[in-house]
Amino acid sequence: MTAAASPNHDQVLEALKSVKFPKLSRDIVSFGLVKGIEVERDLVRVHLRVSTRDPNVPAEIERDVSRVVKTLAGVRDVHVDMSWVQPESAPPAPHAAPAPQEPLLPGVRLKIAVASAKGGVGKSTVAAGLALMLLKQGHKVGLVDFDIYGPSIPTIMGVGGMPLVQNEKIIPLDRGGLKLMSMGFLVDPGTPMIWRGPMVHQAAEQFLRDVDWGELDVLIIDLPPGTGDAQMTLSQKVNLDGAVIVSTPQDLALIDARKGVAMFRKMNVPILGIVENMSGFTCPHCGHTSYIFGHGGAEREAHALHVPLLARIPLVPALVEASDAGDPMGAVEADPQLRDVFTTMAVRVSDAVGLTVRG
Ligand SMILES: Nc1ncnc2c1ncn2[C@@H]1O[C@H](COP(=O)(O)OP(=O)(O)OP(=O)(O)O)[C@@H](O)[C@H]1O
Ligand SMILES: [Mg+2]
Repeated sequence: MTAAASPNHDQVLEALKSVKFPKLSRDIVSFGLVKGIEVERDLVRVHLRVSTRDPNVPAEIERDVSRVVKTLAGVRDVHVDMSWVQPESAPPAPHAAPAPQEPLLPGVRLKIAVASAKGGVGKSTVAAGLALMLLKQGHKVGLVDFDIYGPSIPTIMGVGGMPLVQNEKIIPLDRGGLKLMSMGFLVDPGTPMIWRGPMVHQAAEQFLRDVDWGELDVLIIDLPPGTGDAQMTLSQKVNLDGAVIVSTPQDLALIDARKGVAMFRKMNVPILGIVENMSGFTCPHCGHTSYIFGHGGAEREAHALHVPLLARIPLVPALVEASDAGDPMGAVEADPQLRDVFTTMAVRVSDAVGLTVRG
């Protein structure tokens, strides 16, 4: 038995005249919807352009065209190339993509998150120290936290006051050229705690749009502790260039660090490395170092996860005292050991994201 000959262009067009526009008596050919027909042996391609507000119409036409053309002798396969346009006055289709908005943080070249799955491991301290040292390298730097339970950035940087609003934009606070903002500023202190969690989702994007950062080389983002939805949403919205994970050398904290690494990997955010904080305590009197939270854990973990260990920050009592006095970064600047550790960390981070040291 020989295979039936393929139909020609006119035969396909004739068949398409039997396809009615849904709910109307007119056919798609007389409506001018058919923009092209190609026959390639037993494969027929039909190009259609449909203008309608009803998202079901293109699918229905596509189904009917396919069915009718397949009944023609010599046709084995039908490809329908459908272009669907919505009339300008049409309301948006239910599943249409939202209108494109201005990109978030337009003047900010690089966005780096500092994260930890566990709270209180020194994330804000690391974020602030990193921002400070990048500033010292000659970059334009901003530092922001999403701590809606209380702004930690102003405390940690030893600056106070509410930010100004100019031309409907919030102007970040300034500490020696470092731009500082906290989402905590926007939360009414009277808002009950239970409402604050959901506000991270809703308010984060608005917050990012409303702050006038100007031109920045890098924005350091102190993420809320955890690896849940709030952190994922924030990271996705911001479109991060990299993440720094902070952990203490304790087993429990390291398990959490692993979760942090896994979360960022899932979102294709490059892990710039792990920072081991509160790594050891050197007695200022006898010089002996005790490893209160264990030793070498973060290094082993970094190795196992194939990420660099960016820094090992010792536990420094002066930092605790300075925190209580409201100026921990003053302690970092004053302590040569801490300054060195933070400087090395900043150099490693700049190398990892391609920031060249200036000045
Ligand atoms: N290496 C260190 N040596 C001594 N004290 C430190 C060190 N790192 C952090 N701290 C102190 O530990 C406390 C917690 O640090 P920090 O606020 O940076 O943690 P965090 O992870 O940001 O906490 P949270 O999860 O609440 O945001 C602060 O008082 C801080 O000064
Ligand atoms: Mg913090």
